[in-house]
Amino acid sequence: MDADFWKQRWVEGQIGFHRDEVHPDLLAYGEDLTDGAGVLVPLCGKSLDLLWLAERVPTVGVELSEIAVRQLFTEHGLKPEIESFGPITRYRSGQLVVLQGDLFEVTTEHLPFPVDRCWDRAALVALDPARRPRYAARLPALLRAPWRILLNAFTYDPDVMDGPPHSVPEVEVRALYAPAVVDVLDERDELTERFAQRGHTWWRTQVYRIEHAP
Ligand SMILES: C[S@@+](CC[C@H](N)C(=O)[O-])C[C@H]1O[C@@H](n2cnc3c(N)ncnc32)[C@H](O)[C@@H]1O
Repeated sequence: MDADFWKQRWVEGQIGFHRDEVHPDLLAYGEDLTDGAGVLVPLCGKSLDLLWLAERVPTVGVELSEIAVRQLFTEHGLKPEIESFGPITRYRSGQLVVLQGDLFEVTTEHLPFPVDRCWDRAALVALDPARRPRYAARLPALLRAPWRILLNAFTYDPDVMDGPPHSVPEVEVRALYAPAVVDVLDERDELTERFAQRGHTWWRTQVYRIEHAP
């Protein structure tokens, strides 16, 4: 999916992926993210996870849609400082920074502090198969070693729908991040009403810890 697809979804308010609560896997495994220098949240939308993280550790989200970024700050009564760096606009309020622009145009120079942890919820699975290798190579390029990524992903019968969100099997996660050390922290059945209505009969969620291999 290209940038226009996502920007249009925000224009039309088609944001079924957004949750009005902090993600339960972040609450369960957040200590894996708050023990470092800073957290990167790629493809962050206006997730409440950003606020939870920024209360604990410097946090940088990256989001394409200006609508999403503005909603994030206004809905929480925050008045960010805003600076432009070419294609990237940087919003900052305390420990929370959001880089508005294309993740693939973000460099370490846009980061106001080092990040060595990453929370991927609905980011890898939002990308077409062809873009995933570039994405999985991009994250380690932005993260300071030794880094750690916590990934929430899922699998479903790909014959039922094309995505996004996409089904990303464990074998692909391992291949994308090789030679990193990949652990499955949790795997569970999680068919929601939203996807049952779209014809799915099963849905498996996985939580991975992916760690830099020295
Ligand atoms: C499925 S949503 C997930 C949002 C968020 N992670 C959450 O949990 O609510 C994917 C988000 O990624 C953004 N996005 C898509 N491609 C992007 C890119 N190349 N760079 C930055 N953001 C992107 C979209 O605008 C959208 O808000």
